[in-house]
Amino acid sequence: MCSIFEQNTVLGNLFDNQKVKVACIGGGPGSDFLGILKYLMTNKKSPTIKFQLCDREKSWGESWSDVEDKVEDLEFRISTSYMPLDVTKRDDWESHIKYFQSDLFTMIYFMSEVFSLRDSAEEYFAHLFNEAKIGSLFLFIDNNSSDFYNWLDELAENHKIDILSSKETYLKVPFDEEKSDLGQYLTKFSPPKLTANVAYRIGRKV
Ligand SMILES: C[S@@+](CC[C@H](N)C(=O)[O-])C[C@H]1O[C@@H](n2cnc3c(N)ncnc32)[C@H](O)[C@@H]1O
Repeated sequence: MCSIFEQNTVLGNLFDNQKVKVACIGGGPGSDFLGILKYLMTNKKSPTIKFQLCDREKSWGESWSDVEDKVEDLEFRISTSYMPLDVTKRDDWESHIKYFQSDLFTMIYFMSEVFSLRDSAEEYFAHLFNEAKIGSLFLFIDNNSSDFYNWLDELAENHKIDILSSKETYLKVPFDEEKSDLGQYLTKFSPPKLTANVAYRIGRKV
């Protein structure tokens, strides 16, 4: 995520604003959030950010509940909130509307997760794309499979999301990424060289 933000000025420039609202759709344990945090720290940007995690798994809400305390030494201010929401269940998502005011929506390894349930999930994405405010940005990153990115591309075309950047590529975990948590295994084996085969899209609501 961090390298995609660094390569794409439209995304990067968003964080030059004083206040930014981000909704992480299927944000899970907070990896989308950590990717953005890393970008802000390495690029010395300090907006006030509000993160909204939207995910059906309620236990992720707890893992996010004290994030603000753990990152209090940062130069920027963040707040996080969790919204339980199952995108395949209309009753679950239709009453939530505030997060449509977000400036950025992330969908990281999420559409592949619900692809097998796309008949039930499609209505949610159509609703999200229709209701998002004009100018808001969308970041989709997923496994490099045409099943997933074709689905996103088709939805974007039908719901006024202009695709600004579109790539199928390999992304490497940067050399400076924290590996010390591997403890004894870091010296036992050579340092991990992780490469992800991904597709990504950056879209803007028009
Ligand atoms: C592969 S994880 C990706 C998590 C995170 N975005 C990341 O990149 O690490 C997929 C996430 O989608 C959530 N999820 C799966 N089905 C869902 C649904 N129907 N509605 C909402 N969230 C769902 C899971 O709970 C999980 O957190």
